[in-house]
Amino acid sequence: MGTGGFDDAINHCRLAEFPLWIEIVEDTVILDWHCTARPGEIALKVLVTGNLPAEIAAPLINHHDVTMHREDRPMAREDILSSVGGMHGLLCMITDRVDGELLDKAPDLRIVANFGVGFNNIDVDAATARGVMVTNTPGVLTDATADLTMALMLAVGRRLVAGDRHTREGKYQFWAPYYFLGHEISGKTLGIVGLGRIGTALARRAAGFNMPLLYHNRHRLPREKEQALGVRFADLKTLLQQSDFVSLHMPLSQETHHMIGARELRTMKSSAFLINTARGPVVDEAALLLALQAGQIAGAGLDVYENEPALTPGLETLENVILLPHMGSATEETRRRMGAMAVENLLAGLEGRTPPNCLNEDAL
Ligand code: DGY
Repeated sequence: MGTGGFDDAINHCRLAEFPLWIEIVEDTVILDWHCTARPGEIALKVLVTGNLPAEIAAPLINHHDVTMHREDRPMAREDILSSVGGMHGLLCMITDRVDGELLDKAPDLRIVANFGVGFNNIDVDAATARGVMVTNTPGVLTDATADLTMALMLAVGRRLVAGDRHTREGKYQFWAPYYFLGHEISGKTLGIVGLGRIGTALARRAAGFNMPLLYHNRHRLPREKEQALGVRFADLKTLLQQSDFVSLHMPLSQETHHMIGARELRTMKSSAFLINTARGPVVDEAALLLALQAGQIAGAGLDVYENEPALTPGLETLENVILLPHMGSATEETRRRMGAMAVENLLAGLEGRTPPNCLNEDAL
């Protein structure tokens, strides 16, 4: 693969498919990611806490002095704290807590570009107070997350994972008329809590399954939009009482923390399923475990957890729950788009332009 210089690797990566990129990374662990600016350019210092593919990182690496965490596991907080001093840009993951302590260690920081649409990991007020821009990656993961939400509804309703396990274990020995029954999805009422981009994309998909659609949101949509989307506004209690599937799409904030707790779970139908592809702490997970164990609701499809990646002990023993490792946006296409968007935001912030997805223009 050439002489092994960084640009050489980047050029190879541009031509390469994803699997080859993995090979290149492994072949070139000695590569120095600190790249030099072109003559006349001033290279700024950037910390990237996740392992980005070469072609996604190239626009950054070609112009700036980039330190990248090259492992797939999250960068340890103490390593971030000890590396961030002197950095002008930080491209962080949703697993990194960016708070006052971290920001105080990086007085030269201009921008924090989050690799993700949810930014509850970042204290935006603390960043604004220090004149640091914050960006996220909205839009590009909407379809992938809505697809996965639909998949979770189908999987938990029709018992796909249990059926797969049963078959693999050699237990499928006969067909029978009342064997492995699940719950129909078509025609069932879906309650969407949080009708933003992803909630809206889910509503469009669910309409294809003839599901009556309720929604609850901080702001009610204009009547024409409700009609166009085929959704009906409901207060949370009504939505919980009437829905066969309740899907959560609100951002995590102080207001939404434990928005679904013991009382809300008791309000749901005993035949209903709870789906969470938003953020774990919007659900009181201990209360959810009790509700599932007591048969207060029929099941749950979870992609996120209150103390991620840890599960509330007991969840893993339940047959009526599907547990995924926070993979709502995990498609090759989407993660590439997210990386490219985070890099674009970061470059704009470093160059003193307003980044396309700036969350705190006040910081400017
Ligand atoms: C996000 O972008 O907030 C997602 O949770 C990451 O998949």
